Amino acid sequence: MNKFILVTLTCSVTLFGAVNVRICKECHGQNFEKHALHASRIISELPKEEISAILIGFKYGTYGPEQSIMRGRVFNYSDEELRTTGIGK
Ligand code: HEC
Repeated sequence: MNKFILVTLTCSVTLFGAVNVRICKECHGQNFEKHALHASRIISELPKEEISAILIGFKYGTYGPEQSIMRGRVFNYSDEELRTTGIGK
């Protein structure tokens, strides 16, 4: 029973919590220092505000390529969460 509650809590945190930046690192690098799949800019060098705007743009399809890999990574998050990833300088 206790285990069940714990699992439920953990799942809610992943679904509704802030952006899980661990998954971003698979492509963008441990410190966001890589060109993801040789396609993106190095995002650790971009200002935080620009990252926020870009992520929201990916979500609504107003930024990036039409078949953006990024869209699937961000559409589940609220705009507020996408504004507060802490990524960028
Ligand atoms: C499967 C690999 C992959 C993952 C995982 C991934 N990205 Fe990306 N990202 C890309 C690619 C490729 C691009 C280039 C645009 C495109 O094709 O969508 C990109 C572009 C970006 C850009 C814009 C950079 C530019 O050149 O303008 C930002 C910001 C970004 N990603 C942030 C994130 C964040 C935050 C996460 C985690 C929620 C994330 N990415 C997860 C592959 C990935």
